[in-house]
Amino acid sequence: MSETLLITLSACAEASERLPGLGFSDPWAAERLERLDLDRSLYNGSGLLMKQIAIRAHAVDAIARRFFSRHPGALGIEPGAGLSARFERIDNGQLRWVDLDLPAVTELKRKLVEPGDRHALRAGSVLDPAWIEELVAGASGPVLVVMEGLLPYLERDEVRGVLVALGQTLPAGSEVVFDYAHPWVVRRTRLLPQVYRTGARFSWGSSRITEVERWCPRLQLLEELDLVGPVAPGASLVSRALRRLTGGWVYGLARFGINPSSSPRKA
Ligand SMILES: C[S@@+](CC[C@H](N)C(=O)[O-])C[C@H]1O[C@@H](n2cnc3c(N)ncnc32)[C@H](O)[C@@H]1O
Repeated sequence: MSETLLITLSACAEASERLPGLGFSDPWAAERLERLDLDRSLYNGSGLLMKQIAIRAHAVDAIARRFFSRHPGALGIEPGAGLSARFERIDNGQLRWVDLDLPAVTELKRKLVEPGDRHALRAGSVLDPAWIEELVAGASGPVLVVMEGLLPYLERDEVRGVLVALGQTLPAGSEVVFDYAHPWVVRRTRLLPQVYRTGARFSWGSSRITEVERWCPRLQLLEELDLVGPVAPGASLVSRALRRLTGGWVYGLARFGINPSSSPRKA
């Protein structure tokens, strides 16, 4: 499914043209795409999906900026970062950032991006607990973990394992941000032709994202955003109906925080 990173990279590169009113632009994505010299028509078919990805990236950036305005020198970790330029977009001159992705993607990113003192590129799987043990368990202050366009492709047990491990380990004040799809969408990945063409399929869906609080009571839902309504008023009707019936968005962004009265699990 790593090829899907080209869809999100294209969406960010083209966001300022597709959504001029959004206030989001990503010249780094455009430059990375130029250097990759690909047939872009393969990745930017449905305008709706491309707008939705840009709106998601913009919303996650806003959450990250708010987090780092409270904790300017804190650590951010992005499993499944792909070729995203989130570090470059949100850098405040103090924060530290780790992009974590599978080895082939990290190798490619190293050809396109110069890591620095505050920006590391790390090869590994989100499913391997080594990154949590090394990066999260040793953190002295709040950590922001962002997973964008990653969890819906994993199995339910895998998603649960990652979130529970994070919830048990992150220090107080930390946040975990990720997108999720309703099971109704998971059964219809074929409606996303660019994604379907890469062979990637959604696997995990949630009709009520507060279920994560039951998986790990240290994680508390702080905010949930509808990612369909802003781009597709027609689909928004379905989204609002499902929300009323089941409590979940068709496609949403969730921000969880660590319960301040709880302590992390001892290493
Ligand atoms: C849809 S792309 C999203 C990229 C980036 N988050 C963005 O929004 O531009 C999904 C990314 O997840 C990565 N990925 C897939 N499985 C992974 C795993 N087990 N561990 C870490 N990254 C993974 C892929 O290589 C790919 O870069």
